Amino acid sequence: MGAGGHAQVVADILLQMHQAGDAVKPIGYLDDNPQLIGHSFLGLPVLGKLSELSAIEHESVIVSIGDNRTRQDIFTALSQSGEKFVIARHPRAIIASGVSVGPGSMICAGVIVNPGSVIGINVILNTSCTVDHHNQVGDHVHIAPGVHLGGEVSIDEGALVGIGATVMPQRRVGAWSVVGAGALVATDVPARSVVVGVPARILRQQTND
Ligand SMILES: CC(C)(COP(=O)(O)OP(=O)(O)OC[C@H]1O[C@@H](n2cnc3c(N)ncnc32)[C@H](O)[C@@H]1OP(=O)(O)O)[C@@H](O)C(=O)NCCC(=O)NCCS
Repeated sequence: MGAGGHAQVVADILLQMHQAGDAVKPIGYLDDNPQLIGHSFLGLPVLGKLSELSAIEHESVIVSIGDNRTRQDIFTALSQSGEKFVIARHPRAIIASGVSVGPGSMICAGVIVNPGSVIGINVILNTSCTVDHHNQVGDHVHIAPGVHLGGEVSIDEGALVGIGATVMPQRRVGAWSVVGAGALVATDVPARSVVVGVPARILRQQTND
């Protein structure tokens, strides 16, 4: 679901999984941008609008939209209509044994997840981020490229940890918060906060969620 730049990264992962012998075989994208319909990316066609899913034979879907709230809304609607969700896990991601990953999540190339961590549903673990041991990564979270999470970190539902940020061990990032690119989270981040800097300080509170 989605055919933008992020969706093309997801498609590439699914294609790499297929080439590596996984049963998954992507068939195409759906997107509500009429300018994309009829185009192909990575050899896969944009088949129609999101609402046309039921007319297309398929076994599972993945919501490939970067914005956490939009991804959550579409995931929830599809879930309620009985859809099954594939996990897009790049063959060159390193996931420790025993780590659980929820349906609809995406794990990019170069990601490392260490033992005892739990990854929620509809999560993005973006390129080369590291999730150390015994982390709790909540549903609909996005861990951006190059982020490092120390041991026993909690990232609550819907939070975005921006490119290159670092979260020190045992810290918590509250639900629907945003950690700015390059920040160092040295103290817990309250829910619905936007924090930036080294060490991270609150830039503003979000009131709309
Ligand atoms: C933190 C963030 C959400 C703030 O966005 P915003 O609310 O639109 O804020 P603005 O761009 O208006 O900037 C407000 C102030 O914060 C500063 N600022 C913004 N982002 C910052 C960051 N990451 N680190 C330090 N300062 C930052 C700006 O310079 C500006 O400072 P000023 O008031 O002194 O001029 C955004 O800049 C950010 O870092 N997003 C993460 C993006 C990301 O990594 N996405 C993942 C893609 S894969």
